Amino acid sequence: MNLWGGRFTKPTNQLVYDFNASIKFDQTFALQDIKGSIAHVKMLTKQQILTEQEGKDIENALQSIYQEIEQGRLAIDESCEDIHSFVESTLISRIGDTGKKLHTGRSRNDQVALDMRLYTRDQIQMMHTLIIDLLKTINDIMKEHIDTIMPGFTHLQKAQPITLAHHMGAYFEMFKRDATRLDDIYQRMNICPLGSGALAGTTYPLDREYTASLLGFDGPCLNSIDGVSDRDYLIELLSAMSTMMMHMSRLSEEMIIWNTNEYQFIELDDTFSTGSSIMPQKKNPDICELIRGKTGRVYGALMGLLTTMKGLPLAYNKDMQEDKEMFFDALTTTKGCLQLLSDMLKTTSFNKDKMKASATGGFTNATDAADYLVGKGVPFRDAHGIIGQLVLYAISQNKALDDLTLEEFKNISDVFDQDIYQAIDVNTCVNKRNTIGACGQEAMKKVIELNNQYLSQY
Ligand code: ARG
Repeated sequence: MNLWGGRFTKPTNQLVYDFNASIKFDQTFALQDIKGSIAHVKMLTKQQILTEQEGKDIENALQSIYQEIEQGRLAIDESCEDIHSFVESTLISRIGDTGKKLHTGRSRNDQVALDMRLYTRDQIQMMHTLIIDLLKTINDIMKEHIDTIMPGFTHLQKAQPITLAHHMGAYFEMFKRDATRLDDIYQRMNICPLGSGALAGTTYPLDREYTASLLGFDGPCLNSIDGVSDRDYLIELLSAMSTMMMHMSRLSEEMIIWNTNEYQFIELDDTFSTGSSIMPQKKNPDICELIRGKTGRVYGALMGLLTTMKGLPLAYNKDMQEDKEMFFDALTTTKGCLQLLSDMLKTTSFNKDKMKASATGGFTNATDAADYLVGKGVPFRDAHGIIGQLVLYAISQNKALDDLTLEEFKNISDVFDQDIYQAIDVNTCVNKRNTIGACGQEAMKKVIELNNQYLSQY
């Protein structure tokens, strides 16, 4: 059934019909569409725009359609133009003329705006649950690896010793910001566009506050033109998802590096790795690579919608139908990646010995050696120079700083004493850094406690 046609004398060209139709993708929110219609009917009845009987008949029929679709007993007819036409024509085929009253005081413009909001709200909640699970996984790794020493990097060069807990703690902060971004978006988008009509509102005495409260919104939108043409919340969510993907991609990249033969910091579980069809020895980090790769898709969806919306005059334009496919794809992609990353991390084993050995070589304790001299009264700039010479000498001897004899130390500066060995031990280097946010055990314990507190709300 077409929802229009009265003013036309010729049928639509088939290619035009197919190009215009959205049922293939807007059936995604079939249930939200019906939920919205039920609230609309309840409100129309309360306002005596429909009789009690009409309201009851429409509502009951919509409830059955809802359940049948949910249970897979009613197939969606893809020859309809969109999901709104499908639901309405199914309703009319079941209860006749009364069904034709459902669309009183409503337009597809405010209807689709409502459906997307209802759908997106559910999706934000699902995504939030997945992010919290990922944060729990990361926090568990932090608890377990508070004394697992590894090198921290700058420029992908070994810089200073840190712990795995500290390194993973950086990702905890990133994903926590992502979770709070979802909270913000939800709070801003939770207003009801229904009642905006096509753009100008309606002549019926709708109770928009009532409809909004039935659907769990904080209230109705305050401008009907904006109500039908606002897609900001989708752009905000795509932006938040892009940032999440960027964070997941960075961690994936590190896991790819850590998983190489050269590093061997981690071992991915067999259940989360894949093989090569030709090279029998291979165990590839495909999941990490796919997360890294799929980041581009989500960025693409963000750029796509920003570009679609750019230059659109108020109010509704059919361009806006393009808000759906790439957005749905971005949601599926991001949720899938969150789930996989969390499950993969849960099964990954960390090679403590390799990490510690790597942190011990490579002069990661050079800063601490300089600080040692400062502790003995040498100005930092001079200390920096002395340690530079020491490193140069150690490289020529193919030794780590820890392996130099006291005599070798003293040849460079006689300020050095026996206690230098203790001062540059990696454990000392890590555990002397105990200001909040640093890698030392005491500092990490405080942060983990704060993480626990944050997570205990969920
Ligand atoms: N399929 C349309 C969309 O996604 C529904 C709204 C149609 N409104 C209209 N005036 N043609 O945007």
